[in-house]
Amino acid sequence: MKWLSNRYAYPMVIFVIIVSIALQIAWLNQFFKAQRVQVKHDLEELVGQAAEMSTYLSLVPGHEHSVNFRNFFLSPEWLQFKQAYNNMRFNHVSSRFNSDIIGDSTFVSISLRIFNGKPPKAHRGHIVHYNTGTIMAQEQDSDRVDFHRMDSLVQMRLAQIGTGDKATYAIYSYDDKKLFDGTSLKNIKNAAFTSQQYSYNLRFLGMYQLIVPSVNSLVLYRMRFYLVSSSLMLILTVAVFVFILRLMRNQRQYAQARIAFTSNMTHELKTPVATVSLALETIMENELENDPRTLREYLEISRGELKRLNLMIDKVLNLEHFDNNQMKLRTELFDVQQGLNEVISSMRLQLENSGAQLQFLPMALPCFVSGDPVHLTNVFYNLIENALKYGGDNVKLAISCNCAPNEVTISFKDNGPGIDSSYHQRVFERFFRIPSATADIHNVKGTGLGLNYVKQIVEKHGGYIKLESEKGRGSNFIIYLPAVS
Ligand SMILES: Nc1ncnc2c1ncn2[C@@H]1O[C@H](COP(=O)(O)OP(=O)(O)OP(=O)(O)O)[C@@H](O)[C@H]1O
Ligand SMILES: [Mg+2]
Repeated sequence: MKWLSNRYAYPMVIFVIIVSIALQIAWLNQFFKAQRVQVKHDLEELVGQAAEMSTYLSLVPGHEHSVNFRNFFLSPEWLQFKQAYNNMRFNHVSSRFNSDIIGDSTFVSISLRIFNGKPPKAHRGHIVHYNTGTIMAQEQDSDRVDFHRMDSLVQMRLAQIGTGDKATYAIYSYDDKKLFDGTSLKNIKNAAFTSQQYSYNLRFLGMYQLIVPSVNSLVLYRMRFYLVSSSLMLILTVAVFVFILRLMRNQRQYAQARIAFTSNMTHELKTPVATVSLALETIMENELENDPRTLREYLEISRGELKRLNLMIDKVLNLEHFDNNQMKLRTELFDVQQGLNEVISSMRLQLENSGAQLQFLPMALPCFVSGDPVHLTNVFYNLIENALKYGGDNVKLAISCNCAPNEVTISFKDNGPGIDSSYHQRVFERFFRIPSATADIHNVKGTGLGLNYVKQIVEKHGGYIKLESEKGRGSNFIIYLPAVS
């Protein structure tokens, strides 16, 4: 996985994401085109079936119980035949349709009359329905009824497939093919879909055409699952890449931090050992048992160094205890203010040496929490030590403690270099040290364990820690612990 850690990782991931997006778009585009063709085909079929049903319904009176009649007029063959017949509307041709029930059969006859010269005026176009002796006005009324039935059938089916609100129709005269009802010619020209012209009965008066101004919304509606799954896939791909890259970056930083920790730790452990060895050697070589004052001085130095060594070992042991979930708290009623006072007095020398100004005004009443005194004083120690370590010269540290009925709030506010908001989470990670901050402040020693320990201990006590800080404006670490009333 070396390639992911080098500088090609990000361009490569961006390239892969762009290629995935491009492939998805190309695929969806192809699919969109195919779906457009399919939608048009479906619309055509829908109008054809509606015309077939409409024709059947206009002819059915008197034949309601004939299954054969129904099968014939609803067959695809009849639909084709009728379309072919309708399309043969040449000039000088007239047609005639006749249906009669004689005995046990229905006789349907369709005849074409082709004039052998110029037809008489009355026979220019198609001649309609001779058999029943109805007059033209009655035929037109019945045609109107049939047309409405055809249109409702079409609308109903359009609604079933999820469109229809914008669909309209055009009616053409059967004789001269001229538009005489419905939408305008301009709309027909601009429409995304225009069906063939269908007759909806056998009166040979009007031809129905479905006009759909736009099919895109219908196509997109049909593609909705593909669109959603494609987008989801892209989002997931990007999310996975981001996740992996972040994970790898964190691991890399963790590995670097561990290396830094090991070298720091080795140094921190070696220094007291070297100092103590040197002190012991000096005592022995110079026979200092005869000089009790100097001997005591050297022993004090050794004791201090061993104490430091012990603290370091404790830090590492705590680490292990946290990892193995072996950290057990020895809780008792603990007065936070008293604990703070103790830590501050034990650090007085350190505070004086660093020239820091510390402000802590305890409240008159004690502030009780149920906590482990050893770990909680360690927490206070770590936060004060950090303020001194990173605050620079003349740091001012204000400690305050607020006891509410449910919660105790302890704040450690310094006027040091502050912490950029991008590090607010990370400073609590194990081994993490802000790179520039440590470089700025004269190579401050540290292991990056302090704040991680603080956070874990506070959380183990059922509390939480918040950091309020901006770069250049000091830091405020606020601890919230459940109060004991
Ligand atoms: N008061 C503060 N002001 C500015 N930066 C801080 C402050 N406290 C902590 N930091 C930053 O957060 C980092 C993490 O602090 P943390 O206490 O966890 O580790 P450390 O001080 O480096 O090591 P350790 O406490 O184990 O000796 C520090 O390296 C420092 O960069
Ligand atoms: Mg620290």
